[in-house]
Amino acid sequence: MKKIFVFVLTAIALCMFSSSACAANYYTDEQTITISDIPSDGKLIIASYDESQRLVACHIYEPENGMIDNVTDNVTNSGGKIKAFLWNMTTLSPIEMNKVDTRPTRPEPSGNKTLVAYFSWTNKTEGIADHITEITGADEYEITPKEPYGEENNSYNDQSTRAYKEQHDDSARPEIMGTVEGMEQYDVVFLGYPIWYGKAPKVIYTFLESYDFAGKTVIPFCTSDSSGIGSTFELQALTRDASWRNGQRFAGGASRDSVEEWVQGLGLDFGNDLKTPKMEVRVGNAVFTATLEYNAAVEELVAMMKENPITINMNDYSGFEKVGPLGRSLTASDSQMTTNAGDIVLYNSNQIVMFYGSNSWSYTKIGHIDNLTGWEEALGSGDITAVFSLA
Ligand SMILES: Cc1cc2nc3c(=O)[nH]c(=O)nc-3n(C[C@H](O)[C@H](O)[C@H](O)COP(=O)(O)O)c2cc1C
Repeated sequence: MKKIFVFVLTAIALCMFSSSACAANYYTDEQTITISDIPSDGKLIIASYDESQRLVACHIYEPENGMIDNVTDNVTNSGGKIKAFLWNMTTLSPIEMNKVDTRPTRPEPSGNKTLVAYFSWTNKTEGIADHITEITGADEYEITPKEPYGEENNSYNDQSTRAYKEQHDDSARPEIMGTVEGMEQYDVVFLGYPIWYGKAPKVIYTFLESYDFAGKTVIPFCTSDSSGIGSTFELQALTRDASWRNGQRFAGGASRDSVEEWVQGLGLDFGNDLKTPKMEVRVGNAVFTATLEYNAAVEELVAMMKENPITINMNDYSGFEKVGPLGRSLTASDSQMTTNAGDIVLYNSNQIVMFYGSNSWSYTKIGHIDNLTGWEEALGSGDITAVFSLA
């Protein structure tokens, strides 16, 4: 028995350093593993490594009814990681694993499938479109004219500009670059644009004529210097069998709250309860938002943040990350990954790591900072205190 064990350890060591030879036969870096359809001679070997990748323990698990259910190796709590191998103990050769993925999957969304489509020349309408996208959990599509508008179009009174001419030409239909993928899937389309000479830019007309809007609800919104959204009858006439809602004008830079109030007043179901919330990360005076992943650890973290903001003292590590204790363990679903600046991960189930550089290791991804401007500067080179809350 001892000899077999030594052989197995040697084989594992070989596998580890020549992963291409039997990579299909083991699954790495999950802390909790479920495997089905194990043949009668098969046994699961879990090898545990410490932080320096030294083999520290090796456990052999017997399947029950061809199944090994939710095996967790405690050794990983010391900061190392595990590798699992399925071996035929008679022939001492690896067996293909049928690993059951026990990680939670994002539930099918309910409510209206929503698209926010917008044209924005100086990004004011885009700001409102981004708010609506966040609030409703919609997909977003920017209507991009094939030929961009030049700066000269800013001269409102210049009748020789392209914008002026198009807006005063009934037949003008500027071409659009790209298309909406799977337009048929959307029930609700928010349609955003700036007011140009009292109406929607003609590229919006092109957009409306490019798709079948039958059965969809179209909700127009605009930004302008002072004009209202006016009647959208001319736009409505371009779509057949669509149901149009009253439009809404916003000032450029309108607050997220004012947009949310309007969206909620529409009384439509966007299945918001299924939307993963955003996280705010505060380091000193700098505030960032992060888009969160969907997994058990994030669910638990969100529940914690609903109670109270989480403050973590974080140390600099190796010139690429800040790491600090969360104060409790979360349900990890670690996998090997190479991180990038802005990634936030769970390490060893109880440490939060924020990257300003990159590292390859086994983590559970928590989220990613949306806008990295000032991120590296805010994290600096020393230790920091970070406050995490729901955005
Ligand atoms: C060619 C052109 C025509 C415009 N016409 C109007 C107008 O008739 N009424 C108005 O209030 N604002 C008008 N504006 C201002 C824009 O509607 C306003 O700045 C808008 O918020 C810009 O949105 P955007 O940044 O998404 O392009 C015009 C701007 C341009 C460039």
